[in-house]
Amino acid sequence: MPHEQAEQTTYEQRKASPRRYLMCRPIYFDVTYSINPWMDPARPTSTQTGLAQWKGLFDTFVTLGHDVQLIEPVPGLPDMVFAANGALVVDGKALVARFRHPQRRDESAAYLEWFGRGGWSTVGQAEYVNEGEGDFLFTGGAILAGTGFRSDPRAHDEVREFFGRPVISLTLVDPRFYHLDTALSVLGDEQIMYYPEAFSLQSRAELAERFPDAILAEEADAAVFGLNALSDGFNVVLPQAAVGLAARLRERGYHPVGADLNELLKAGGSVKCCTLELRE
Ligand code: ARG
Repeated sequence: MPHEQAEQTTYEQRKASPRRYLMCRPIYFDVTYSINPWMDPARPTSTQTGLAQWKGLFDTFVTLGHDVQLIEPVPGLPDMVFAANGALVVDGKALVARFRHPQRRDESAAYLEWFGRGGWSTVGQAEYVNEGEGDFLFTGGAILAGTGFRSDPRAHDEVREFFGRPVISLTLVDPRFYHLDTALSVLGDEQIMYYPEAFSLQSRAELAERFPDAILAEEADAAVFGLNALSDGFNVVLPQAAVGLAARLRERGYHPVGADLNELLKAGGSVKCCTLELRE
């Protein structure tokens, strides 16, 4: 296991645990509409480059020992590569998304079909707008829930009931960080990193109180989507341009692994957006 920095810190040795992820090959990736400030349909995109960068991320996860499942991409759904938005899966239960924008709504049927193949104790579709792990992040105990741009606040109650877990509502205020997973990342049980300015004052106070130990991101790292990261408890895969955040992670005993997903960033997504965690 790669851990050249870990023993130099005063933190306990972090431990990686193998994960199960669901991803979607971006064979139909394109920016043909704009539903967040990153998307400019007039700017050229390359499906080939997107695919190659996505493959790099897939290979990174496999090299780290994770089990990566695939969902079949659907023609006409260019954002389907962002598998994080398809569902929230905790305790073997899957709650499939309901998308805010009509351009993505048909993705739900593909996820319902995929989860319907079996292996899950309960599969349901959200009644209120709920963009899956884009806005709902599991900390090991509670579920952090975002609202303000995409998921409906009523979806927070629905998630609380569906999973029988505590849900902490957080309000996003900066349109660049329109999903919770663009502004906050769970590193380990009850350990997070986030960009405070992306949240309302009340949510900032709540985060500061609950997570006094959190890594706070600078704007430069947040602006390159450094918080759109995925941790296995030790390895933290994050956009390679987020160098400040990588240094903070190293100081705290984590092992940052840089990924280049710049092509997909033109749609407003990166590492975490491409990955849905499947929790038994
Ligand atoms: N273009 C997509 C959208 O705006 C990007 C989704 C990114 N996914 C995420 N989990 N933040 O819906």
